[in-house]
Amino acid sequence: MYRTHHCGELRASHINKKVTLSGWVQKSRDKGFVAWVDLRDRYGITQLVFDADRTDEKLMEVARNLGREYVIQVTGTVIERASKNPNIETGDIEILVESLEILNQANVPPFTIEDQTDGGEELRMKYRYLDIRRNPVKNNLIFRHKVTQEVRNYLSSIDFIEIETPYLIKSTPEGARDFVVPSRMNEGQFYALPQSPQTFKQLLMVGGMDKYFQIVKCFRDEDLRADRQPEFTQIDCEMAFVQQEDVLQSFEGLTRHLLKTINGVEVDAFPRMSYDEAMKTYGNDKPDIRFGMKFGELNTMAQHKDFNVFNSAELVVGIAVPGGNSYSRKEIDKLIDWVKRPQIGALGMVYVRCNDDGTYKSSVDKFYDQTDLSQWAKATNAKAGDLICVLSGKTSAVRAQLSALRMELAERLNLRNPKEFAPLWITDFPLLEWDEDTQRYHAMHHPFTAPKPEDIKLLDTDPGAVKANAYDLVLNGNEIGGGSIRIHDKETQSLMFDHLGFTKEQAKAQFGFLMNAFEYGAPPHGGIAFGLDRLVAILGGAETIRDFIAFPKNNSGRDVMIDAPAPIDQHQLDELGLKIK
Ligand code: AMO
Repeated sequence: MYRTHHCGELRASHINKKVTLSGWVQKSRDKGFVAWVDLRDRYGITQLVFDADRTDEKLMEVARNLGREYVIQVTGTVIERASKNPNIETGDIEILVESLEILNQANVPPFTIEDQTDGGEELRMKYRYLDIRRNPVKNNLIFRHKVTQEVRNYLSSIDFIEIETPYLIKSTPEGARDFVVPSRMNEGQFYALPQSPQTFKQLLMVGGMDKYFQIVKCFRDEDLRADRQPEFTQIDCEMAFVQQEDVLQSFEGLTRHLLKTINGVEVDAFPRMSYDEAMKTYGNDKPDIRFGMKFGELNTMAQHKDFNVFNSAELVVGIAVPGGNSYSRKEIDKLIDWVKRPQIGALGMVYVRCNDDGTYKSSVDKFYDQTDLSQWAKATNAKAGDLICVLSGKTSAVRAQLSALRMELAERLNLRNPKEFAPLWITDFPLLEWDEDTQRYHAMHHPFTAPKPEDIKLLDTDPGAVKANAYDLVLNGNEIGGGSIRIHDKETQSLMFDHLGFTKEQAKAQFGFLMNAFEYGAPPHGGIAFGLDRLVAILGGAETIRDFIAFPKNNSGRDVMIDAPAPIDQHQLDELGLKIK
């Protein structure tokens, strides 16, 4: 037997007990006549003691020469510590070691296995198995397990059934590129890895499964960011005989359950906001509503003077930065430089200082008087002591720029408290989105999303105005889930493919199986998928999903530990009938 207890288990109540422990050497201290070793496993750290009076000389010698991260097994007696350590759970006791076996030696690790390590990101990723020994990473993985388990418990308790769907499939369009897998048995043909199990979950509804969920890997070949990985995990769900309200209620229930069981937080009914309102008020379809700084549109009050920058703009819009009047001229100039960076792309920024005596001082005093500026203050909800920041230009660009500024300022002002949770449903998304590159509309969510019945008539005349029964769940400014009510009849689905520019043949080749299924009694259905990695990160008070994934990829989509992707040999290429240029 390798162990009778684990390293986080022993307490004063175990004193005088003979125990066997196994684990890794965290560190050792040698005072000559006495040596201590911290032994670590997943559960904690237990101090081992060797002293010249009670430990035999040979064992003392072995203890003195243990290297960091050696794997050892010890047997000894639990004794009371002379100087207790209140910071660890086993801090009242230590083990007086009677025998020790080195189970495996270890090289000196390339970074310290401590909560605060000296290892940089790339190095830690290369030796991720060592990184996982560190508490912050280990605890995140345990946290993820707890969330996953609560998801399974909750959904099972309301009659959802977990069903696996295949990974080797045909393209499911979710807006990214596919990862493809060549087929040896069907030379020249490829599977696509699922961007989501979207079509399969719809087929499960046609199959009568009624309530499905799956904690499932999805694959998307897209540009990576802190909240995006090429392979990530969804909590994918679908329900039959439901309307939008049923789906929102069910998954508000799940989210509330998680906030309560995982974070101990009770949240009232989640607020809802239409896509249009979110764009107008926050410039963004995933607003962080933990803080204000709502947008105030200023066109009517700023476009009647001689200031041409504003007069020629499609949108003039501002936010009030709380306490921002305390910024020096230099700090404001820095803020202006910040919005002018290419990543943000604003041409400039107008500002208004809201003085304590109720007067205003702006960077455009030449054009606007105190009455004008007081109207701006009203529209942006600015108070004395605030700073109003105003951007102008094309609506979509300016909204994105001001939204980025709002988030940046909130970060600087510490308004994004990770312990506070502000969920928000965004509803009434447009069905279609204009794509400048291809000069055509594409599905904003995916091509299986149902248009609002009252808007179907607009599909021919004003496609951009058609709204969908589609919704996102936003948590603290992050899109953690998205879904829709689906089309469940062949005619509407075929109409949708027409509008997305598919020829009848293309639609049939790619999605014939779904349209066929719709001819065999497809129930009305809808669903949602949560991004599990994002959800876990946010519940855990963070936003970088890599920290909650055991073996993540870096920003170039590489696994630096196993060194993938990698070339394959000629024999394999030949077998697959592939030629590399
Ligand atoms: P959608 O594309 O919105 O919907 O994806 C659902 C959720 O998955 C998460 N997500 C990601 N997380 C990490 N890395 C990525 N690359 C990534 N891409 C998406 C997001 C997102 O909200 N089939 C539909 C769902 C449905 O209609 O039911 C779908 O996949 O949190």
